[in-house]
Amino acid sequence: MYHITDDEFEAFQQLVYAETGIVLNDSKRCLLCSRLAKRLRALHLNDYIDYYDYLLRRDSGGVEMQEMINCITTNKTDFFRESHHFEFLASHVMPEVVARAAKGGPRRLRIWSAACSLGHEPYSIAITVRESAVNDPTWDVRILASDIDTLVLAQAADGVFDQDDLAPAGDMLLRRYFDRGVGAFAGKVRAKSSLRSLLTFRQINLIHDAWPIRARFDVIFCRNVMIYFDTETQRRVVERLVQYLNPGGYLMLGHSESIQWSPNPLRSLGNTVFQLVEAGAGKSGIA
Ligand SMILES: C[S@@+](CC[C@H](N)C(=O)[O-])C[C@H]1O[C@@H](n2cnc3c(N)ncnc32)[C@H](O)[C@@H]1O
Repeated sequence: MYHITDDEFEAFQQLVYAETGIVLNDSKRCLLCSRLAKRLRALHLNDYIDYYDYLLRRDSGGVEMQEMINCITTNKTDFFRESHHFEFLASHVMPEVVARAAKGGPRRLRIWSAACSLGHEPYSIAITVRESAVNDPTWDVRILASDIDTLVLAQAADGVFDQDDLAPAGDMLLRRYFDRGVGAFAGKVRAKSSLRSLLTFRQINLIHDAWPIRARFDVIFCRNVMIYFDTETQRRVVERLVQYLNPGGYLMLGHSESIQWSPNPLRSLGNTVFQLVEAGAGKSGIA
């Protein structure tokens, strides 16, 4: 077992905050130690300060910094987690974009899953899209799935899941959108190309200033990531996300995340669904 001093822990708190925006309060000390211990073993280092020094001075190309970030993130996720957001997508957003197209608007839908973890969220979005009236080859649909963690992102791009994870989707959707694994892959399922073809995976750090995105989105899911940020970082991230929404577009936050500052151009529709107020429709700050 390795020992971490108060000063070393504080140095890691600052480093993790600077790199990811994640606030590690004192109660996370054991968590940090256990997660980083495997990196110390992998690099044959004796203590945390050696690892800190390695990250700052010997980490050419930032490879180890990425390993450290992958260790620090918490990736808990589920299919159709907080299912009301997917119900809202099906019952409000899809009919709205279809109605917009019927009035001569573009047959285009853009959705971003902004901290997608292992992929359960963007694949749940893709299933919802496929089950809607937008499931038609004349529609141009893209779902961007991003995360800071390259390990979970690679798994998400593979589209392989434990079959048990699909329980919230039910048997019918499982059969329609996933192939069951056999042999060494028994108990696993892989998303069919009808889902995978909708998705693009990209590493994006939400606290970086430049996001490599040109699109504007009809819906952004940014759920259960801002709980790890402080209020100032949350405010900055939401302000940036708003700039990537189409007028009238929607922002979905996690159940324990809210926007407590005003004024802002979002109005709350309840249940952590927010809408970008269309120009000229009047702004309302929300609590
Ligand atoms: C708890 S998971 C949430 C997954 C999914 N959105 C959900 O609600 O089920 C949080 C994710 O946020 C990612 N994350 C943490 N800090 C981030 C940052 N600065 N930029 C982008 N993603 C980040 C983590 O890697 C992790 O996969």
